[in-house]
Amino acid sequence: MAFPEKFITELVERSDIVDVVSGYVRLGKKSGSNMFGLCPFHSEKTPSFSVSPDKQIYHCFGCGKGGGVINFIMEIENLSFPEAVEFLARRAGMPMPEQENDAESRKRARMLALNKDAARFFYEQLSTPAGGAARDYMAKRRIGVATAKNFGIGFAPDSWDSLRSAMKAKGYNDFEMADAGLVRRGKTSGFYDTFRNRLMFPVIDVRGNVIGFSGRILGDGEPKYMNSPETLVFNKSRNLFALNLAKKSKSGYIILSEGNIDVVSLHQAGFDSAVASLGTSLTPEQARLLSRYTNEVIIAYDNDGAGIKAAQRAIGILEKLDVKVKVLRLSGAKDPDEFIKLKGPDAFRNLLSASENQVDYRLRRVTEQYDLTVDEQKVAFLKEATDLVSELPNSLERQVYAIRVANMAGVAQNAVIAEVDRRRKRRLRAAQRLVEREQTRPEKLIQPGQRELRYDDPASAAAEEGLIRLLVMDPALAKSAALPPAEDFSAPALGRIYREVRTRLERGDAVSIAALGPALSQEEMSLLVRILDKPEILSRGDLALRDYIRKIQERKDARRQDTDLLALQQKMKETKGYRG
Ligand code: GTP
Ligand code: MN
Repeated sequence: MAFPEKFITELVERSDIVDVVSGYVRLGKKSGSNMFGLCPFHSEKTPSFSVSPDKQIYHCFGCGKGGGVINFIMEIENLSFPEAVEFLARRAGMPMPEQENDAESRKRARMLALNKDAARFFYEQLSTPAGGAARDYMAKRRIGVATAKNFGIGFAPDSWDSLRSAMKAKGYNDFEMADAGLVRRGKTSGFYDTFRNRLMFPVIDVRGNVIGFSGRILGDGEPKYMNSPETLVFNKSRNLFALNLAKKSKSGYIILSEGNIDVVSLHQAGFDSAVASLGTSLTPEQARLLSRYTNEVIIAYDNDGAGIKAAQRAIGILEKLDVKVKVLRLSGAKDPDEFIKLKGPDAFRNLLSASENQVDYRLRRVTEQYDLTVDEQKVAFLKEATDLVSELPNSLERQVYAIRVANMAGVAQNAVIAEVDRRRKRRLRAAQRLVEREQTRPEKLIQPGQRELRYDDPASAAAEEGLIRLLVMDPALAKSAALPPAEDFSAPALGRIYREVRTRLERGDAVSIAALGPALSQEEMSLLVRILDKPEILSRGDLALRDYIRKIQERKDARRQDTDLLALQQKMKETKGYRG
């Protein structure tokens, strides 16, 4: 799917990279002309993610990722190139150019239509005689009729082909249904319904599309839930159950729980901002999705070991975004659903207002591990607690929590404050050293991070990089000298990038990051950005260009001589060897 070049150029011009990145990363003070922030693509405590407003590129010294604004959106929103373009176009308020209705988008539309028809079918089954078992189960779980309607809850009958024949009658074939995960192919006979005798929860995305299903067994049994497989329209890690409803809530926060039943029960009790991840622990994509609709997330996971673990992981993911995280302290019930049934909505409302912020929560978790009346354990507690506090980015917060820790352990406040400070400094120094080492190691300067991209001839590679850099930064220079063929390059990856650049220049096309994006792999794009991020003096670009070309030529000749020499040596050895 090709977009007109003019469209892409304008899109990139209207999508300032600093603006776009700032929606995801807090960019701090400048160093040189670059701005720095914490990399959204890997875990770090010291900023090594840089954005260049001049070059309109981003680059992380830590994980090596880099690219232009379109690459950034592809990476962070987990989108394909055309999807990222559409995303940015919407953001910039630009209409999309007319496009061929290609095969894939037709297939998607068809699958969404099928899912919607299937959801309607399941919903209708609730009021048939066959739906009796489901109605009984819903009554037992106290799910009301209005709630069922609100969520579109339905019932998959206890039959091998009730959905299949209903959808056949509507004109869908077995392969379409299998692609959507609604039927499966039997080993011997034909296709059969995936979901049988289950309470069906449609998963609806924020645009209102039915993208998949989650089916709960009526009562006990294994597996408790069956979810749609990943399909063209369903990606578990990028969607959340009930976000389509929760995004309309006026509550100002989103409640994140584990189970579908919890979500349904919460909404029914008036907590209309509850969502659940789809049977996986919270993913970074889901967290970013949440952060588009709220700046406060209250975690209400199950009150068991798995729930506590999952909550800690979720905190770690959410705290990287600009989202306030609180954790609910559920007591006397295993999950929010049970809590509401036992104690009522008002008690749950109290829980919500008493929910702890994530620092309190983590501190309490640490505290619970130690007996503070035993000196040895007290020391261990202080170590762990001061370490936790030293990670807080805000100095006032560090002070407040240091004092809290001191009081808990019954030791002098100043001692704890000093210890937090010491740990913080040590942490920063270690991170600083790491960045410095990355930036100053000579072989690092020239060698790309990935092993498969190793340079065999660093001297030539440096010139090859330089040539690419100059051509991309100042395409007009291409006319000032005869460009060598890509075959002269020593590094295959650089050769591939260069071939693309050269071809585009010859055609008179743009060689911007955005224009090159679709033609390069993620590794090649990161490499290109790394190259562009190195300093280059453009004032006498024509001279530099010729220097680079000469160097590439020299090294190529040298390599050939080496091979010739080697061949000669080999020959001599052979002749001599055979004689004597
Ligand atoms: P109950 O309260 O026991 O009725 O169920 P629940 O809806 O609260 O779900 P639970 O807390 O047991 O599980 C949380 C989520 O994990 C569910 O919503 C499912 O998405 C997922 N899950 C649970 N059991 C299974 C299973 O057996 N298979 C799969 N694939 N997912 C499951
Ligand atoms: Mn549950």
